[in-house]
Amino acid sequence: MKLGYKYISWHESRGKGSVSKDKIFNLILQENRRQKHKIGLIASENNVSPNVARALGSCLTNKYAEGYPGARYYEGNQVIDEIEREAQNRLKKLFGVPYVNVQPYSGSPANSAVEFALLENGQTLMGLALSSGGHLTHGHPKVTFSGRFFNSVQYGVGGDGRIDMDQVRQLALMHRPKLLIAGNTAYPFQLDFKAFGEIADEIGAYLLADISHVTGLVIAGEHPSPFAYADVVMSTTHKTFRGPRGAMIMVTDHGLQKDPKLSDKIAKAVFPALQGGPHNATTAAIAIAAAEASGVKFKKYGHKIRKNADTLAQALQNEGLKLVGDGTQTHLMLVDFSASAPGMAGLIARALDAAGIYANKNTVPGEPGSPVYPSGLRLGTPLVTTRGMGAAEMRQIAAWIGQVSRYTIQNVQLPADRAQRKYFQGEFARQIVQDKQLLAIAKQVSQLAGSFPIFDPAWL
Ligand SMILES: Cc1ncc(COP(=O)(O)O)c(C=O)c1O
Repeated sequence: MKLGYKYISWHESRGKGSVSKDKIFNLILQENRRQKHKIGLIASENNVSPNVARALGSCLTNKYAEGYPGARYYEGNQVIDEIEREAQNRLKKLFGVPYVNVQPYSGSPANSAVEFALLENGQTLMGLALSSGGHLTHGHPKVTFSGRFFNSVQYGVGGDGRIDMDQVRQLALMHRPKLLIAGNTAYPFQLDFKAFGEIADEIGAYLLADISHVTGLVIAGEHPSPFAYADVVMSTTHKTFRGPRGAMIMVTDHGLQKDPKLSDKIAKAVFPALQGGPHNATTAAIAIAAAEASGVKFKKYGHKIRKNADTLAQALQNEGLKLVGDGTQTHLMLVDFSASAPGMAGLIARALDAAGIYANKNTVPGEPGSPVYPSGLRLGTPLVTTRGMGAAEMRQIAAWIGQVSRYTIQNVQLPADRAQRKYFQGEFARQIVQDKQLLAIAKQVSQLAGSFPIFDPAWL
């Protein structure tokens, strides 16, 4: 039988044997080199294991499996059923929950499924404001589905950068949301799930704990667990959980007591309401990540993420940089440039990238700039910890961040005129990659980063 394509292995695509001319393979290798020789401090990124990568690149991607195990709309799903059940069972055991759905394509579709499962159009949900470190899907007004289809009430942080649970309770009593969301994207402190649960129970609301960022810390006992208090727990699988890009929605015993139909509502919201066929290769990779997260080694990993975050935070403060709330209790921290360089975090992030360190600009509470020109820099330690970096590397990285920030602030000024900013930004981006001082740092960064292993294409 003649197949319509020629199989090209990774080795072939790298120039051995018959070479694939497809530019995409070259670009993948370029990206691989970038990851290897730069230091990634984006709080939501990680580096998957060889086994997770293998499952993702497998034949499972060829199969359609609309529906759930034992109830599919396509034939030939005997093996896929087993894989999905295995993924569910591993996660049920790991988190001690009665129901897990592993089909959401990612975190935002998972949150939309929870919201559509539990709310009718126009009903009220309440979540942490984006500007205080919440996620877009937690009710950010106007531009997101969660702020457009539902009546969204947002709580924020106080002057100390922390959520005030008394204020959350007052707002909840006033607006009586049907869904209360506790979750964080750029909030560096622990979430008090017990207090959130008490408020939700008091007003008869569902509590959704979105632990996307802190799952690995919860598993390691480095962050309070939501499972006794929340009704539904959602997590992406690609952040501190260190699996493929995907998500899981879990229903707790607490949730089933509140609403015995909860699992069924979630299942129907994911499929058929919002999605079609699940991504089976991702499901298998989630199952592998679940097994990896169940061992003692993973708990140690969670402890190290925290230790590295504390070391990095302290070292940044020693460099004279201010952190929102003066520190961190999680894997992430926010450098606050609102006094020293308002609106300039994007330029500093770009200068850091030129120096081989990548992070992301972020708003800070009480932002004097704007979401496009914010004053915060979000930094996280999950990826560098996976690579094996420790205290000495955190101190060195903080020194580089201090050096690059000061250099940028001293030499660059963001135009006050908004119309000029776009042109200025383009020019800045063009020139910064040729800056000799930054290139010298990039060389040192590359040497350090190159000595800590990262995703190897040969794993596939
Ligand atoms: C707390 C939280 N929830 C949901 C999401 C959305 O995940 P995704 O980017 O996979 O859609 C994110 C992503 O940053 C997040 O931080």
